[in-house]
Parts: sequence; C-alpha cells; structure tokens
Amino acid sequence: MTLWGGRFSTKLNDQAWDLNSSLSVDQRMAIQDVDGSIAWADAIHKAGILSDEEHEQIALGLDTVKAEFSTGQFVFAPADEDIHTAVERRLSELVGAAAGKLHTGRSRNDQVATDFRLWMLGAIPQLDAALKDLQSALVEQAEAAGEIVMPGYTHLQRAQPILLSHWWLSHYWPLDRDRARLNDLTPRVAVLPLGCGALAGTPLNVDRAALADALHFAKPAPNSLDAVSDRDFAAEFLFSTTLIGVHLSKLAEQIVLYTSAEFGFFELSDAYSTGSSLMPQKKNPDVFELTRGKAGTLLGLLTGLLATLKGLPSTYDKDLQEDKAAVFAAFDTLTIMLPVLAGALRTITAKPERMRAAIDSTMMATDLADYLVNKGIPFRETHAIAGKAVRAALESQLGLEQMPLEAYQALSPAFEADVYQVYDPLSSIQKRNAIGGTSLQSVKNQIQKIKENQ
Ligand code: ARG
Repeated sequence: MTLWGGRFSTKLNDQAWDLNSSLSVDQRMAIQDVDGSIAWADAIHKAGILSDEEHEQIALGLDTVKAEFSTGQFVFAPADEDIHTAVERRLSELVGAAAGKLHTGRSRNDQVATDFRLWMLGAIPQLDAALKDLQSALVEQAEAAGEIVMPGYTHLQRAQPILLSHWWLSHYWPLDRDRARLNDLTPRVAVLPLGCGALAGTPLNVDRAALADALHFAKPAPNSLDAVSDRDFAAEFLFSTTLIGVHLSKLAEQIVLYTSAEFGFFELSDAYSTGSSLMPQKKNPDVFELTRGKAGTLLGLLTGLLATLKGLPSTYDKDLQEDKAAVFAAFDTLTIMLPVLAGALRTITAKPERMRAAIDSTMMATDLADYLVNKGIPFRETHAIAGKAVRAALESQLGLEQMPLEAYQALSPAFEADVYQVYDPLSSIQKRNAIGGTSLQSVKNQIQKIKENQ
C-alpha cells in the first residue's frame, strides 16, 4: 500500500521504487512519527474530523504501534515506502477504516519535517552529554598534570614553556563553545511544521499553538511555505558536528605527534592502540587518526547538504529527503567517536621527563627580554638584545644558560649575575599569571571556573 496511486495506471518501476524509498533511513524516526501522529489525531479530533470513538481507536492503535517499535516487534512490509506509510499501514491493520482518517489535513511534507525536528531535539542532549564527558576527561588529566611543564609551540616551532595542565584545558574550551552552539540551536529546531499541510497550510480548524505545546515545541512555524522547506536546523546541526570534528581533529593531530618516538610526550594505553599486521613493534594511534579522518567526512556531510539545499526552488522538493542520511551519519560518527576518545584520553600517560627535555633555554628568550625590561629598557630594544644573545649562544655552541656573564654584558651592561634565573621554565610559567595565562594559579582558577559552571 502506498499513500498515493489513484491517478496512476501502472505501479512504480521496481528500481525507481528502490530509489524513492526512504524507509531504510527514516525508520529510526519511528517513535517520533507515532508521537506526531498521536498529537495530530488529538488535534483533528478537536477540529471535529474524528468522532470520539474513531479518536479512541486511533489513539489506542498508535499506542500499540509505538509499543511494537519500542519492543522491536514491529514488522515492516515490502510496500512500506517510508516510516509514515509503515505506521499508517500498521494502524489500519489494527483499527481498520478509522485509520484512513488520520492523514486528513496533513501531508508527509509537514510530517517528515516534524519527525526530523523531534528526533533532533532528542539527539542534541545525547551529543551534549557525550561532549560533557569528554570535557571531564580533559579536566581530570589537567588536574593530574600538577606542575608538569612542556614546550608550547607556534608554527610547530618551540615557542615558550607551558604547563601540561594548561595544554589539556586548551582543548576543553572549544568543546564548551561546541556545546553552547548545539544548545543554542535548540530553539530553532523547536519550531513546529505540523499543521502546514503540503505547502499552503491545513484547511482544518487546528489549534497549532496547542499542537506545538503537546509535542513540546516552542512555537508553530509562522509560514507554511517556509515550514515544509526549512532545513536550516539540519545545516546548522551539521555545521556544529563539523566544528566539533575540527576541534577533535586538532586534539587528535597533537596526540598523534606527541606519541611519536620523536616527541615521546605521551604513551597510549594498550586498550586504545592498535598494532601492525607486518611490523611487530608498531603501536599505532588509530583512534586519533580516525578522529582526524572523520572530521573530513563530517565536513563532507555539511557541504553535501548545503549543495543540495542551494538548488531548491520552493517549498518541499524530494531532494530534501537527502537531509536525514547526512544528519544521522554525523550523529552516529560522533556518538561512536566521543566515548572512545574520552577513554583514550583518560588512559593516556604523560612523560614529564621527555616534555622537560624538549624545553631548551632559547624558549626563555622572551623572559630574557623581559628581564631587561624590568631594568627599564624598552621592549623593542630588549627584544633585539635577547635575539643577539640567542645568536651568540648558537655561534658559540653553548646553551643560553651556559654563556658567560661577560658575553651577556658585552650585549648590554644591564645584565647581572641573576640573569641565569630566567632559564627556569617553571619561573617563566609562573610569570604568566594574568587571567588565561599558564601560571599554576591561573590554571587553578581556570579549573575552578570550569567546576563552578558545571
Ligand atoms: N521521505 C520523504 C522525505 O524524507 C517524506 C516526505 C515525502 N513527501 C512527498 N511529497 N513525497 O522527505
């Protein structure tokens, strides 16, 4: 049974049927489809389309259909074109003729957009919870890192010493913005298309505000033409998942680098690493490489949907059916990835001695310039003097901390014997004590702020 066919002389070509059918994708909105139908049945009962008896039959029937989906007992029929057809077909088996009245004044166009939005309203909190747990893993690592120092990089060149805890937290905040972005999307998802019909609105006397309340939407969509075509929420969702992917990829890329023998800053636990079929010694960071790789796939889903939307003329077009596969794929990707990442990060081991060994005294050249600033010399001059000190050290093949005091004093008479104190990474770190800096106190404040907001 299709929900259409009266005006056709032959049935749809089998291959065209396969192309057209969306059941394999939209069956995961089964519960949402039934919930939307229950609310619609209530609304058209109030509008006088269903008698009390018909309404009761349909409501009971839909409860049964929902229970069949919840318990995995629902059996799809070969002719179920999509989830909407499957629900109505089963309802008619259960309650007979009354089922044929359920679709009065409704179209699959307003129905599918409603189902999809309902699904997303449930998906956002699930993603949020997984992101929150990943954030907790980062905070746990930051707290465990204590006074461990590591090199900080710009341009992937050694730059300045930082606390490992500060580095962990640098990956916390992007996820905080991601969560805010997802939650900020919610009010735009919670706009109800149901009651807009195919495009022009429903001819029934339906209270759409009450319908929105019943389905826990914030409000009914104000324009029927827009309501059945608006997929901004899907595009925004995909942008959010893509940016999450980008953030996770950035973290993953650093872990891949830092677990290499060349860096050796971290070691992955065996439970989250993989081997090579050929090289017995290999311990590979596949989890993080896949995280990096899937960010590309997520971006593809976003650009794919935007390209689809771009070409559409007006209201509902069947191209829109492509929206769900993309959004579900993005959701599934993150749903698999996020807990694995949290586990991998919770079990990673830092190698403080390797991190410390990677900090050389030139990374404190800025502190050397600041040392002279404290003696009253303008920074522009001290920057040049410190640069010359670095060059002198390189030329004499000595560390800055090994250069004799006379060599410093040849560059500026302001240098004194205490100059060597600038080469302690932790004291360099401790000077960066303003809000957002890497000092122990600043990082402690960061963690406190995180805990207050949780
Ligand atoms: N499977 C369709 C979709 O996902 C449902 C809406 C179909 N509407 C229509 N007029 N054929 O968009």
